[in-house]
Amino acid sequence: MRPFEQILTDWLKPRLAAAFPDSPVPLAKMAVVVAAANPEFGDYQCNGIMGAAKAMRRNPREAAETVLAGADLPDCVEKAEVAGAGFINFFLKNDALAAAAGEIARDPHCGVPQIGAGKTVVLDYSSPNVAKPMHIGHIRSTVIGNALDRLHRFLGYRVLSDNHLGDWGTQFGIIIMGFRNFVDEAALRETPVEELERIYVKSYEQSKADPEWLAACRRELVKLQGGDPDNLALWKRFIALSMDEFDKIYKRLGVRFDLVRGESHYRDQLAGLVARLAELGLARESEGAQVVFLEEEKLLPCLIRKSDGGYNYATTDIATVLNRVEEFKPDRIVYVTDERQQLHFKQFFAVVRRLGVTTELVHVWFGLMRLPEGTFSTRQGNVIKLERLLDEAEQRALALVQSSSPEMPAETQKEVARAVGLGAVRYADLSQNPQTLITFTWDKALALNGNSAPYLQYACARIASVRDKYRDRFPAGDYEAAPIRVEEAAGRALALRLARFSEAVIRATETYRPNVLADYLYDLSQAYSSYYQNVPFLTAPEGVRESRLHLSAVTERVLRQGLGLLGIETPERI
Ligand code: ARG
Repeated sequence: MRPFEQILTDWLKPRLAAAFPDSPVPLAKMAVVVAAANPEFGDYQCNGIMGAAKAMRRNPREAAETVLAGADLPDCVEKAEVAGAGFINFFLKNDALAAAAGEIARDPHCGVPQIGAGKTVVLDYSSPNVAKPMHIGHIRSTVIGNALDRLHRFLGYRVLSDNHLGDWGTQFGIIIMGFRNFVDEAALRETPVEELERIYVKSYEQSKADPEWLAACRRELVKLQGGDPDNLALWKRFIALSMDEFDKIYKRLGVRFDLVRGESHYRDQLAGLVARLAELGLARESEGAQVVFLEEEKLLPCLIRKSDGGYNYATTDIATVLNRVEEFKPDRIVYVTDERQQLHFKQFFAVVRRLGVTTELVHVWFGLMRLPEGTFSTRQGNVIKLERLLDEAEQRALALVQSSSPEMPAETQKEVARAVGLGAVRYADLSQNPQTLITFTWDKALALNGNSAPYLQYACARIASVRDKYRDRFPAGDYEAAPIRVEEAAGRALALRLARFSEAVIRATETYRPNVLADYLYDLSQAYSSYYQNVPFLTAPEGVRESRLHLSAVTERVLRQGLGLLGIETPERI
């Protein structure tokens, strides 16, 4: 199913091209169609004419009139009119909206076109550092990255999700010294990652105070990098302990990766890469280090080998791009990290461009998240304990479910509370523009009458219960076979929202902002609730009744599918 936006844009293009030959504003920009802000202005609106008319010193209203003059409208359009300073407003036919809803009901992808078919995307997300607990940045990367992962797959892209673990840094010399000197094996069994963090911090502090210690850490690192079997065994053990802990979180959040290739995967390629960059004249020596100067790009130089011979974060990332390009031939590589890494990504993207890589490279960054107690930061050591946050979410959700559904068996209550609690945490993150500073509060995350996961999950369950009542009253009825009709205003508004699902999915994916989809789902649920309040279902005459149930069922399907794309489960009943 082609989104209405697309149909209208395609219809406008040749007409705009004819009305504005030699327009300085690109056709693609002029022909953009957006959902109308107000039903008075129709269903969709084209706002692009004013800019072009202004640039060409033409009267925008007259220009818009020429576009519409004598034009045969697309089938789905009832009328189109020029409004205001030169907008074109489109009013869709009720039948077209009804047909779109019917198609969403039948189509396995809810009417969302497979725009990614034949395209490959590598998605690099989560990517925590071994021997350190995941901090809030990794959690957000996991939740946002996983939503982008699901969105891309749903659009038909071939996705390779890769967890690019930080498993080959200078921290290992410090941890090995810490391990040899301070490890508490009992604690390591109990809370392995916390114990690794503890010995790391202790050894790190000692290395700052004691040059001997620092030198010993460096020696351990060199031994590890040289393949010393004892140090390699320790390193592997650190990775295994960390992975066990990360996997618990991934399992709980329903996250899985196609690849888990840490930085160490590329370690044997770094020397060759630096040599190649030097040979090509791209890297130069500077104060004993190897550096790629990026004056043309107006960026700080990118360090690819330190003066002590160690390689940098960027060196591995450059090698990783080259590997991914060769192995997967992706159309695009997308990275999800916090905002503090923007310069790093700009730098190594610039270096790989100089190496001739043309693959689209995207850094999706997000801001910090505040919790009421303040901002989390690893540097201060007050790392958010995700496990505990999730436990608390489930407990709080259980209290909600117990009070809203006291009759439900205790086991089911627990299962529902799990979905509601985890959904609440996830949605609190995904419903915000990733690039703004957001504050997490339990009240907002669990609000039953606000833009929250529980609200949307309840909306799904409410529709399911209407369906149950229908089945009780009309056991022979078959609303799914009934044609959907769109007559009354509330039904029309609902059908229009449903038709926008594909637009929301595409826009959320293309802008890398899952909150676009979250906003859409909230808007849809509100359109449904006014439908539900304004039209009778079970007491409506036969035919009308089935049509309304059918439209409700389509709404439920889209809500469940949409939440699923955000990684949020929707229990059948709540
Ligand atoms: N391990 C890094 C960190 O924790 C994130 C890695 C992101 N991915 C990448 N290819 N650089 O900051």
